[in-house]
Amino acid sequence: MAQKTFYITTALYYSNDNLHIGHAYEAVATDAMARYKRARGYDVKMLTGMDEHGQKIEQTSEAKDKSPQEYVDHIADLVKELMGTLDIDYDIFWRTTVDAHKVAVKKIFKKLYDQGDIYKDAYEGLYCVPCETFYTQHQISNGKCPVCEREVQPVKEETYFFRLSKYQDALIKHIEDNPNFIQPKSRQNEMLNNFLRPGLEDLCVSRTSFKWGIPVEFDPEHVTYVWVDALSNYAVALGYMGDDDTEYQKYWPADVHIVGKDIVRFHTIIWPALLMALGQPLPKQVFGHGWLNIDGKKMGKSLGNAVDPNMLVERYGVDAVRYFLLREVVFGQDGNFTNEALMGRINADLANDLGNLLSRTVGMIDKYFSGKLPAAQAETEFDTSLCEVAATAVQKAEDAYDNMQFSDALNEIWNFVRRANKYIDEVMPWVLFKEGGQKERLAGSLYMLAESLRIIAVLIEPVMPNTPRYVYEQLNMSDDNMKTWGSTKEFGLLGREIVISKGDIVFPRIDLKKELEGLAIE
Ligand code: ME8
Ligand code: MG
Repeated sequence: MAQKTFYITTALYYSNDNLHIGHAYEAVATDAMARYKRARGYDVKMLTGMDEHGQKIEQTSEAKDKSPQEYVDHIADLVKELMGTLDIDYDIFWRTTVDAHKVAVKKIFKKLYDQGDIYKDAYEGLYCVPCETFYTQHQISNGKCPVCEREVQPVKEETYFFRLSKYQDALIKHIEDNPNFIQPKSRQNEMLNNFLRPGLEDLCVSRTSFKWGIPVEFDPEHVTYVWVDALSNYAVALGYMGDDDTEYQKYWPADVHIVGKDIVRFHTIIWPALLMALGQPLPKQVFGHGWLNIDGKKMGKSLGNAVDPNMLVERYGVDAVRYFLLREVVFGQDGNFTNEALMGRINADLANDLGNLLSRTVGMIDKYFSGKLPAAQAETEFDTSLCEVAATAVQKAEDAYDNMQFSDALNEIWNFVRRANKYIDEVMPWVLFKEGGQKERLAGSLYMLAESLRIIAVLIEPVMPNTPRYVYEQLNMSDDNMKTWGSTKEFGLLGREIVISKGDIVFPRIDLKKELEGLAIE
């Protein structure tokens, strides 16, 4: 049987030098899902990249005395660096300024024009430059953009229009027939009630008042509306409208587009309508995650409260930051970032629960057996319960990952971590050691802990790509068959004789007071 494919995307990041922990959050969630699907045996394509055209970028680069291309090249380097820092294992880093993209977008525009889905007319309305979004008068109450709350500008120019209104009924039907198309459910209702049912207007898809965009081939005074340009990337990056569309044939339609709630509308109305017009299948799902706020407030450079993910990774390590983001925030809902919450999670869940489980286990094998655990079959009365908790954790974590409920998945895994720590308190290896004649039972119980750690390491890998390696190293696990997802379903795979290699503390405890003072100085 052919391997099942899984195509997953982040939004394309705008070229700005304000990449903050909110952007990191989306990349980390997408990467965790991609890693999970790879572990489950899928042939995964993960796409991320840059949205590089538009009025905003033209203005910003001018203000910085750079050509737009120089400016976006510089930002693309920063974004790639951040993806590396966050251990984002993407397959495609797409940029909308590459030739292949420009050529394909021109073809898309031409095709839609030739078939009558795009026509020329005059536009008069309002425009938010930072969001690159058109608004009608009745969508604006106080002269401000409803999404970013900045001033909108009047726009009056000759433009091309896409017949978005023509696809209204088909879109409503598609959403109603496919209840999983827009997730979470609340966003589906928002799209239907606030946008689709009230009625769609045709969409302005070209501009003439600035230059930084993909020219309309047959009318080069016009540049393509940046959202049409950017949304096309998901298909174009696979070769749609290109020289070689093998990958498009293989991976399209996307299994899921991961986007923030502010741009769900573009992905569930404009993008599907364009695809319908092009006669292409629609993505299977658009998942609109929530906003990550800072101390309960919106984050941004202009607000002066943007948290830099590079700084966090440098201080606490990439796995801790990824763990926090996906554990703390329910995927789909808004979440809150505070330094206290991050450190609280690091100390409680990572240093105390997981870190201790590893160091205690390895430490006891070291202390009681000089680092070499002998093969022992003896059981304790607590083993069955530990095995049951392990099996439940595997099953529940799997279900949660399948639904992109990372926080639930981690919670299930941590039930197991805490249960294993409790097992130590129940068995009391130090008593078995002192009593003498209990070596078999002592060795058997330490084996149970080592085996638990093996399973936990596999389960956390989608979220924490580095920590499993430390576990494997300390337990001297070289057999890759014991690191597969399938291997978590069998308790007792690890060889009974274990030679440990004691390592450093994986998650040192943070002195909260000192650390908060340090952060305040930065
Ligand atoms: O919207 N919390 O780019 P972008 C969570 N170029 N997610 C956040 C966030 C926060 N505080 N801030 C931003 C664009 N995001 C377009 C997309 S796709 C064809 C074009 C998310 O750089 C945001 O919701 O403004 C979006 O999904 C992504 O980061 C990129 O935002
Ligand atoms: Mg944005």
